[in-house]
Parts: sequence; structure tokens; C-alpha cells
Amino acid sequence: MALVTSQEMFKKAYEGKYAVGAFNVNNMEIIQGIVEAAKQENAPLILQVSAGARKYANPIYLRKLVEAAIEDTGLDICLHLDHGEDFEICKQCVDDGFTSVMIDGSKYPFEENIALTKKVVEYAHSKGVVVEAELGKLAGVEDAIKVKSKDATYTDPDEAVEFVERTGVDSLAIAIGTSHGAYKFKGEPTLDFERLETITRLLPGFPLVLHGASSVPAEFVQLCNKYGGQIPGAAGVPEEMLRRAAQLGVCKINIDTDLRLALTACIRQFFVEHPSEFDPRKYLGPGRTAIKDMVAHKMRNVLGCSNKR
Ligand code: G3H
Ligand code: 13P
Ligand code: ZN
Repeated sequence: MALVTSQEMFKKAYEGKYAVGAFNVNNMEIIQGIVEAAKQENAPLILQVSAGARKYANPIYLRKLVEAAIEDTGLDICLHLDHGEDFEICKQCVDDGFTSVMIDGSKYPFEENIALTKKVVEYAHSKGVVVEAELGKLAGVEDAIKVKSKDATYTDPDEAVEFVERTGVDSLAIAIGTSHGAYKFKGEPTLDFERLETITRLLPGFPLVLHGASSVPAEFVQLCNKYGGQIPGAAGVPEEMLRRAAQLGVCKINIDTDLRLALTACIRQFFVEHPSEFDPRKYLGPGRTAIKDMVAHKMRNVLGCSNKR
């Protein structure tokens, strides 16, 4: 039981044609819900922390909570920085004990993305930490950054090969049609599987990462809306597409929005049904269970990583 890198997890996932779930964490209940699911499912686990989560919770609280989760459950956990935007935040997380960092240089031109990623890789590797980078641009909202669909660009397979060779990065997030948040598709959901297959063929054995992979289950959107929410037009990535991606070299699948929906639907329902209740444990407790159920479902039925620890 320890903080571990994702190296072994990805090797096994690639060979076994499944994906490891990377779930975003912001507070104690979310961490507890996710690790309870991983323990129940006997699944490998990546917990990821965004810059927004660090700002919200204060970095030390999240790291100590993850350490507590490891001690409590006996699980190995990879602690990952999600969407690090510059060298400094990556360095800080490496120095803080994270075992994996993402440097997201996807908004920069190719050569700048390479130079920035290389700098992070050199520092992280010198401390035994692995690095994820991103090539291509996803649409959607993450923290304060909003990328319009017209500015999204799919990953070029030849550039991906050059990028991996020149940076020495350990995994690569690619853009094939997913996007962050709850509004991923206006019409029929489609992912560019041909592009994914080409990238996998050109980079055999190399772990790819899919961001923006929430499925935005209709029942949770409906539940939110039934209890006073207004989330019209939400649409996510169909789960069978994620299963297919996991069989085609995608070793890490990022999920945040679905956890937010599960937690929020549960709390909305609680307040409508118990208007005079004000003990936070009464709604955060069921919220934690809703997170656990959502994560266990993903591991077992979508990612295929149950019993792969
Ligand atoms: O991709 C972004 C994740 O959903 C984290 O979102 O930046 O609002 O914490 P956040
Ligand atoms: P979703 O918004 O689809 O959950 O994606 C999360 C993500 O990619 C975190 O990096
Ligand atoms: Zn992301």
C-alpha cells in the first residue's frame, strides 16, 4: 500500500485491453466514495487533482486525505495533477509527493508544447514521477478555460509520434471528439476511432489518455432536473464507446462530470425530501455513497478494470 506511479497500471491495462479510471477529487467525501469503490471492485486507481481543486481545498488537505485513504484501505493509489498549465505547478506537485503530473501544453503551438513538456519530463523523471501531456485540443469547459467547438482540433497521428519521441513523455492525452463538461455533443455522439486506431498502430504499447469521458447518464440529469435543477441539453460519451476506446490503447479514462452529477442529484433530492434537515452529514453521507456507486459502475461495466489490481 503506497502512492505509486501509473507505469505498472498502464502496462497491465494495455495488455489486458482495459482502462484505469482517473477520477477528480475535491473533498473528503469524494475521495472516500471513490476509494471505497476501488476497494470493493479490487481495481487500480488514479486520483487526480486540478488547479481548481488545489485552490478550493488547499493542496495539503487533499494530499493528506489521499495518504489517509491509502492507510485506511491498503490500496495502491496514483496521485496525479490534472491539467497542469505551467512548469511551476508541475514542479510543486512533484515536490509535494504526487506520483504523476500532467503538463497541458495543448493550447501552445507544437514546438512550444514540446519544449514545455520536455522541461517537465526532465524534472519529473529526475524525481521518479511520470508525466502525461496533451496534443490536440478538446472543446468544453475546465476551470476558467473555455474552448469553443470551432477551436477544438483533433490529434494528428504523425505529430503524436514525433511528440512522444522528442519529449520522452509517459502517456499522451489525445483529442478524438470528446470534450469536458456536460454538453459534449449537439447531435449524434461520434468519436474518431479511425484516428485512435492509427495513433495506436503508430505508437504500439504506448498508453493513451482520454479526457472528457463522462457519459452524463440521462437518469442523473433527470433526477437533478426533477428536484429543481436546470441542466437542459446535456449529452455525454456513450459507455460502449469508452469500452471500445479502452480496447484500442486508451489506458486512462478521465471522469469528473459524472461524479458531480451523481453527488448533486443526490443532494438536490435530499433537500426537497427533507426541507427541515440541516445536518451536513445527512446529505454528504448519501452523496458519498452516490459517488461510490457511480465509480463502481464505471470500473465494472465501462472501464473493465474490476479485479485487475
Ligand atoms: O478537466 C477538468 C476537470 O473536470 C476538473 O475540473 O478544473 O473545475 O476542477 P476543475
Ligand atoms: P469530464 O468533464 O467528461 O468528466 O472530463 C473530466 C476530465 O477530462 C478531467 O481531466
Ligand atoms: Zn481533462
